[in-house]
Amino acid sequence: MSEPANTSAAERRRILTGLRPSGPSHVGHYAGAFSQWLELQDEYESFFLLADYQVSDYADNLPWIRWGLWEVTLDWLGVGLDPDISHFVIESGVPEFAELTLHLSWFLGLGHLQRNPTLKAELADLEATTKSVPVAFFNYPVMQIANILLPLAHLVPVGDDQLPHIEMTRDVAIRFNRRFGDTFVVPEARIGAVPRLVGIDGKGKMGTSAGNAIFLKDSEDTLRAKVRSMFTDPKRLRATDPGTVEGNPVFMYHDAFNPNTDEVDDLKARYRTGRVGDVEVKDRLFDAMNALLAPIRDRREHWAARPDDVRDVLAAGTAATKRRGEALVEQVRTALSLDYLRDGPPPPPEGAP
Ligand code: TRP
Repeated sequence: MSEPANTSAAERRRILTGLRPSGPSHVGHYAGAFSQWLELQDEYESFFLLADYQVSDYADNLPWIRWGLWEVTLDWLGVGLDPDISHFVIESGVPEFAELTLHLSWFLGLGHLQRNPTLKAELADLEATTKSVPVAFFNYPVMQIANILLPLAHLVPVGDDQLPHIEMTRDVAIRFNRRFGDTFVVPEARIGAVPRLVGIDGKGKMGTSAGNAIFLKDSEDTLRAKVRSMFTDPKRLRATDPGTVEGNPVFMYHDAFNPNTDEVDDLKARYRTGRVGDVEVKDRLFDAMNALLAPIRDRREHWAARPDDVRDVLAAGTAATKRRGEALVEQVRTALSLDYLRDGPPPPPEGAP
């Protein structure tokens, strides 16, 4: 990966990642994303983005975004993302993201966008539910590219559904650099180890508004009730029936959240041979998840009681990112010769009338 001329080799390498803040985070976010971000934040200077501009049906969703942005921030503080070493960034608080989006949109073909499988699927959903797809749908992937390129991120930790977006980001950076000189870092994706978590209903992936999520902020009682209600092997009627472990949500969760692998192996063996009841398997899962979530819940409540401190965290991270954005956008404007007023009228280009 090439280092552009404007960063010194002694600087820490950077990551940028984020999400669309439309509501509180669930344990799927933790397993698939936050746990990985936690591991990276000591090594990399980290930009954690609240991508409010990119929430789908933005204009209809403003009250949810306003609320969700604070909820996600508390979730991040709760899991231990550390605002003393990382930046929590409100996207719309850095208008340079928007300006960069405009410039970069010249460097990405519509055909490339339309071939992106993640966007294809999202577009199909949109077309099924909206009369007219907003232009913003086509801007948002460019904006994501701007999100990554603005802080000159080296690494982008994301779920595998975002891989095509990172591929587009690399293309845009390479194309721009080739034309106008080294400006952007060409970033790499880092895919998390845990794939998308299934919901407690076993029906599809866990979703904030799908009614099948365990939220990081759920109380101990709520957690216990949700784990108890989890979908499991439907063919198993009695504890003495042999059960299926593969594809069974309760065991998927054990694999994702129970660090005691001996216990998990033992439960699986007994489940397969009809020597353990669902209740015991679920109680052990509750214990493991509660051990993980209790300190997160406590830290979250600590911050929730101090909204002024949370505001400071968001203001500081956003301001730091804005300063970088200003410098970078200036550089991009110069590269694109948008500094019209610096030298007065230039000589006419070749062939000018
Ligand atoms: N599109 C991402 C998602 O839906 C969120 C996002 C916005 C993002 N900008 C980003 C992720 C930049 C990584 C890097 O989850």
